[in-house]
Amino acid sequence: MKKIYTLRPKGTRDILPEENVKRMYFFDKAREVLERYNYLPITTPIFEHTELFVRGVGESTDIVQKEMYTFEDKGRRSLTLRPEGTAPIVRAFFENNISQKMPKPVKLYYYGSMYRFERPQSGRYREFWQLGVEVLGSPSSLVDVEVIHLFLQILQNLTLYKYQLLINSMGCENCRPLYKEALNEFLKKKREKLCQACGERIDKNPLRVFDCKNPSCKELISSSPLIFKFLCSDCEAHFNQVKDFLNSLNISFEFSPFLVRGLDYYRRTTFEVQSPFLGAQNALGGGGRYDGLAEELGGESLPGVGFAMGVERILIHAEKEGAKWGDMPKPQVFIAVVDDNLWPKAFSLLCSLRKEGLFAEMDFLQRSLSRQLKLSHQLGARFTLFVGSDEEKKGVYKIRDMKSGKEWEVQQKEVGLKLTLEVLSGERES
Ligand code: HAM
Repeated sequence: MKKIYTLRPKGTRDILPEENVKRMYFFDKAREVLERYNYLPITTPIFEHTELFVRGVGESTDIVQKEMYTFEDKGRRSLTLRPEGTAPIVRAFFENNISQKMPKPVKLYYYGSMYRFERPQSGRYREFWQLGVEVLGSPSSLVDVEVIHLFLQILQNLTLYKYQLLINSMGCENCRPLYKEALNEFLKKKREKLCQACGERIDKNPLRVFDCKNPSCKELISSSPLIFKFLCSDCEAHFNQVKDFLNSLNISFEFSPFLVRGLDYYRRTTFEVQSPFLGAQNALGGGGRYDGLAEELGGESLPGVGFAMGVERILIHAEKEGAKWGDMPKPQVFIAVVDDNLWPKAFSLLCSLRKEGLFAEMDFLQRSLSRQLKLSHQLGARFTLFVGSDEEKKGVYKIRDMKSGKEWEVQQKEVGLKLTLEVLSGERES
């Protein structure tokens, strides 16, 4: 049997180079779009005071009830590995007096690991990564649409097009109590048929019954009253504006009246982007407006809206959609040493080519020429450059195009420039 210390904890993953290269590509492409939209990066701690999430995400949510990694530190403080990034960012906004430092709305983005004690399966892990944005300080429906548009633009910049956008409105502190009452009445009549957890949800927070994965509960709940029928005129107007703006941008969406999402802080707009390829864990990401969260955390009123996308799910989706990106980088030049006395010369050439900006490599096991060529092939080098005594005498290097097999000589003095030109023209052709 394997020893426990040789295994990683359940629900965690070792991210090997091949996937890391894809993740970096994902992040670079996301960042390109984020910068165009004027979003700035923020990083918050991986752990926070437990109370932040209890108050922010909501006591009755699955995240707080079942999924938090909570521990006491040596000072006997209750800390929790962050299960999400929104509450920490609202905390950071107040703690760092950001409203004095940046004009409103403040547009932030983050990229980092999150922790939830969930049953692991494909696309669901206990440690996972999110890329998220939060816009703080504007109640305007324009911002709701900007973040949705931003989400979709990130996907498009990654050449991903097959997904579905779902939207809903959750109402506000004025209209939601009426809805909760109606839902409560409806659920009470079904109490016996609902699972035990839903029975408890009825009294604590009936909206949370929509998080239940139990098929018979889902069936019963499918005929429950719908929140959009209870929206107050302000919420209705806000939601209509969101839909109008989406239409004017030709963004197709589906109205999904049951999209309440698993966090208590949402008010008005909620949305989710779903993948047709991911089975049960089909949400590539989601978000919405959370105008009451800041007050819940003890701050002044601060409207907010944002989203988070799950990095692992985006990568699984990208592969299934057939996206061709994020390949392992390949050396532009591999230096092969023909005569053993030339290793020092080859090594200094390697260093100078790298200094000139080329991706160059050689065999650090100093093996025979045939093994070096095998390595050059394995690494997928574009050109192989031979350092040999015959060429030395002539003051040249022999270069082989690894695609066509064509060989030619270049003057040693000009090698950096010539190789750079070859690489550039090769890139232009491909
Ligand atoms: P969330 O829906 O809980 O929202 O998570 C956002 C995304 O993170 C999900 O759609 C999914 O792609 C990914 N995700 C969640 N849990 C897991 C998991 N166990 N394994 C892998 N991926 C996962 C939030 O976290 C909100 N903070 C989003 C937000 C930002 N709302 C407003 N601003």
